[in-house]
Amino acid sequence: MFRCDLIIRNATLFDGTGAPRLQADIAVRGERIEAVGELGDMAAARELDATGLAVAPGFIDAHTHDDRLLLSEPCPRCKLSQGVTTVIAGNCGVSLAPLRRARRPPPPLDLLGDESWWRFASVGEYADTLDREPPAVNAMLLVGHTTLRVGAMGDDLDRAATDAEIAAMQAALKAALAEGGIGLSTGLYYPPAIKAPTEEVVALAEVAAAAGGIYVTHMRDEGRGVQDSIAETLRIGREAGLPAIISHHKCVGPENFGRSRATLAQIEAGAAGQHVGLDVYPYAAASTVLLPKRLRPDIPVMVTWSVPHPEMTGRMIDAVAREWGVPVTEAAERLLPAGAIYFQMDEADVQRIIAHPRSMIGSDGLPHDAHPHPRLWGTFPRVLGHYARELGIVAMEDAVRKMTSLPAAEFGIADRGTVRPGAYADLVLFDAATVKDSATFERPTEPAAGIVETWVNGRSVWRDGAATGERPGRLLRRGAGQD
Ligand code: ZN
Ligand code: CU
Repeated sequence: MFRCDLIIRNATLFDGTGAPRLQADIAVRGERIEAVGELGDMAAARELDATGLAVAPGFIDAHTHDDRLLLSEPCPRCKLSQGVTTVIAGNCGVSLAPLRRARRPPPPLDLLGDESWWRFASVGEYADTLDREPPAVNAMLLVGHTTLRVGAMGDDLDRAATDAEIAAMQAALKAALAEGGIGLSTGLYYPPAIKAPTEEVVALAEVAAAAGGIYVTHMRDEGRGVQDSIAETLRIGREAGLPAIISHHKCVGPENFGRSRATLAQIEAGAAGQHVGLDVYPYAAASTVLLPKRLRPDIPVMVTWSVPHPEMTGRMIDAVAREWGVPVTEAAERLLPAGAIYFQMDEADVQRIIAHPRSMIGSDGLPHDAHPHPRLWGTFPRVLGHYARELGIVAMEDAVRKMTSLPAAEFGIADRGTVRPGAYADLVLFDAATVKDSATFERPTEPAAGIVETWVNGRSVWRDGAATGERPGRLLRRGAGQD
């Protein structure tokens, strides 16, 4: 009789396509799914009775800053405990490669670490390191525009790049894409990139397009100018001729609450003529570096880390200012370099964006923050538990699709994102009745409830609340073979 490595029996299968759940057995042989269905006559080295539990394709975290995490914590508990099996790194214009740097890089690059981490002159060097010291999860790498800018322009970033600098960035990007990058990301919102005109981005996006890559953007403005920014994103996608993905879509600031009706309609209209996608995290608060000039009295801010004042981690910034007897902006200046959580979105907008059929789920988790935004540990179970099961704003099947087949299609991840014979055995076993985020703004690193086991490339990486130590992950390239 034919023998497999693993059979999960009597599972409720969410196959990733959005199709209604059904009862099935899933057999795994080596790193692939061997069969799906009623497999009563099959035997396996390990038989697992999943009665009452659900199986889904391993979740694809569409938006991460895990470039360094893959090296510093190769079995990342914050990912495995959520059922995440593939991460898209290098977002928001920030990628760890290609850039060698002797001094601390300007924010937001320092979200990934101080100068000791900026040691990869090429994506090839970074990819080789991952090959030698593989992580537990699979990864795809975007190449950051801000990283390229610092490489070509040093610290002189408060201006447009010259023609010669654009040519240097184009050459670096071309090499990075040949060595494993899947596209270009930008963080036009941030000071080191905000002076880059649209034309500079188009010139780089053209290089990505020629390599079959994609364009992913933390847009210039997610507040009052959010619709101008969407128009700019669509223009970049159109002029360079490549798919564009809007990162962590949101409408920032009370004066923009409710505008997701208009932004989603605008994205929908754009999608009629070009490829445009978006990702979202399931919280009404944002998190990034602390930017004192962008603070507003009507947006509460929590400190997530501070180099000179680590004792203020987890505190609200107005309380810190009161304690110090200084204005809030001065307190912010004193905390630098630092990170923050900004309570600046409308819950109704968050729900509307999550419910939109085009949105993928991406955590945007910041794994090196001392007191991180809870999205790092809670995103996927929160969408499944809170938004799908409790609030019902999406069906559980559709929530799974947003974490699996949809990102697989958007990023060109071949043979992943659905449970079917022949696909890679990236799987998550969970309890659909209890799965739920546990991380909060006060206790942000609580592992989620209800994720029972996680497999990557057929190997168990998370079981009984702990990483197994297996490291079967690999760097994935953008592939043609779609489900
Ligand atoms: Zn961002
Ligand atoms: Cu981000």
